[in-house]
Amino acid sequence: MQTIILAGKSGQHATVVTEAAKLSGKSVKGFLAIDDDMISIIPDCASLGKLSEFPLEEFRNHAFVVACGSNQQRKRIVELILLRGGRLESVVHPSAIISPSATIGSGSMILAGAVVGPLAVLGLSCIVNHCASVDHHCRLGDYVNVSPGARLGGAVELDDEVFLGLNASILPGTSVGAKSTIGAGAVVLSDVLPSSTMVGVPAVPVAGRP
Ligand SMILES: CC(C)(COP(=O)(O)OP(=O)(O)OC[C@H]1O[C@@H](n2cnc3c(N)ncnc32)[C@H](O)[C@@H]1OP(=O)(O)O)[C@@H](O)C(=O)NCCC(=O)NCCS
Repeated sequence: MQTIILAGKSGQHATVVTEAAKLSGKSVKGFLAIDDDMISIIPDCASLGKLSEFPLEEFRNHAFVVACGSNQQRKRIVELILLRGGRLESVVHPSAIISPSATIGSGSMILAGAVVGPLAVLGLSCIVNHCASVDHHCRLGDYVNVSPGARLGGAVELDDEVFLGLNASILPGTSVGAKSTIGAGAVVLSDVLPSSTMVGVPAVPVAGRP
């Protein structure tokens, strides 16, 4: 059985990831919290203290799963772990369905009921949350978060650090620029510029709505 250490914010997302990791056959040694965290208790997961105080030599001996919903914070934690010689592990919930021809970047999380289709490519430390689907030929950059129930049609491209809200839908062949946020329930019909926030059906920039 593979042993991992979870790192991130000890909130609700970490509880979800802990359970998924265990159900996928991993043994969880404990949880390392980032500095501004309260280190609350995650059920059935020992606290290992603060990430910044973890002994440097121990990083090289462990595989890490970063459990943090914020793309920016997750990126910061991943970079710190890699810099200190740790390696990243992915978590795939046993009820997720991943095409054998899909590529999942290291440190990514594919949670319960999610589907990743043929020839989809996911970058580093992506989240495909409960019952979300990433269809065939989609390309996700690094640190992308696809919230529960969100749907990507075929050949959609999401650049680095894109966040899709609950039940957002992205039409086939459409691309979303880096660091954009797509609101819950939005339907994206055409390409989205980087750093945009889009809401509604059809999705329009949140700032420019009538
Ligand atoms: C899009 C989003 C990021 C905007 O957040 P924000 O910048 O704080 O915006 P505000 O809440 O101030 O709302 C600004 C306006 O947009 C509207 N709006 C916000 N989110 C919306 C949405 N998803 N769909 C339609 N309209 C929305 C608000 O009603 C408000 O309208 P008003 O100006 O007429 O009052 C956020 O509302 C959202 O949808 N987040 C997704 C959360 C989610 O799915 N999390 C998953 C957790 S697992």
